[in-house]
Amino acid sequence: MSRPLGLPVVRSSAFTFDTAEDYADILGGRAPGYSYSRIDNPTAAAFAEAVATCEAPGRDDVRAEPFASGMAAISATLLGHLTAGDHVIAPADCYGGSYSLFSRWLSRLGIGVSLVDATDTVAVRAALTERTRMVYAETVANPTLSVPDLPALAVVAHGAGARLVVDSTFASPVVCRPLEHGADLVLHSATKFLGGHADATGGVAVGTAEHLGPVREARIDLGGCLAPDEAFLLHRGLATLDLRVERQCQSAMLLADKLSGHPGVARVRYPGLTSHPQHATATRLFRGGRFGGLITVDISSGRPGGMAFCDALRVVRVATSLGSVHSKVSHVASTTHRQLDDAALAAAGIASGQVRISVGVEDPEELLADLWQALDAA
Ligand SMILES: Cc1ncc(COP(=O)(O)O)c(C=O)c1O
Repeated sequence: MSRPLGLPVVRSSAFTFDTAEDYADILGGRAPGYSYSRIDNPTAAAFAEAVATCEAPGRDDVRAEPFASGMAAISATLLGHLTAGDHVIAPADCYGGSYSLFSRWLSRLGIGVSLVDATDTVAVRAALTERTRMVYAETVANPTLSVPDLPALAVVAHGAGARLVVDSTFASPVVCRPLEHGADLVLHSATKFLGGHADATGGVAVGTAEHLGPVREARIDLGGCLAPDEAFLLHRGLATLDLRVERQCQSAMLLADKLSGHPGVARVRYPGLTSHPQHATATRLFRGGRFGGLITVDISSGRPGGMAFCDALRVVRVATSLGSVHSKVSHVASTTHRQLDDAALAAAGIASGQVRISVGVEDPEELLADLWQALDAA
């Protein structure tokens, strides 16, 4: 018997059955199989299973749910696990879309939110209430690249009967596996490192049946299912995840180190640098001496300098998103954090000339030369 080596794309929203009873049993969950692609699709399921293997190799009890986007995975996780009257603790510097869910949408549903510095475990503990059901964290935050102490957060959360949910988009399982550090659920925007080619949008939630069950129910009812063609692209991206991220981490370390020496640079943030406030935490939690593919650079000449730096780049592209094979740059104050004026930026620890660089897989020496000449021009 021969089988396809590549993942078949099952481009069908509906499935047929031999008998009416088969249909009823599969839909009722009494027999395995597929009925309707919003509920389950073979291509999307294959992608999710592959991510579960990356996050928890060798663990049969860890499964994953595929989503149409990272935000679909995050919103289904919050709505699946929280109800009116509950309380969640989340990082003040979390991704903007997640911040919007926490600050706008959850309050509309009567769910309390405390936004705190997730790297300050004492502050997280102090924010606990009797109704805290979830502590939410990001493995690496944007753009400060802060790294919370996940095992310490797990102790705080579990001691209060709450779950620890970790958005690990910026790390990828190549850099960190939060389930090994006490997390109950791991979320990803698969649009980033997992897919890796900036050609597909998706998300995924990973955990045991106990924690994943409510997320699956929310996915089915809210409808944020992953399309089969996107699932194919994301699954194909996973085949090179290790290779890509290894290269991205090596190049990011080199660039962070070298760019720190340019006279036009006020500060470089990268968890791999000993100057990073959570370097010790990152060294303890991250795998194989890898520290991720993102660095932030504060250009000394401020906002105009940050913009001029971006404009002078030739190899690195001015572009949205992160984690793909292409190196990309964004000027933080005018893009992801454009709503903040200079005073608010300063309060958040973001310099007006700060740029975020997502390091791709190009020749690192070529990247360094490009970044260096752009710094000269800024
Ligand atoms: C850390 C993080 N989480 C979640 C998301 C949302 O993912 P998506 O755009 O796939 O919905 C993003 C997007 O940039 C992100 O950076």
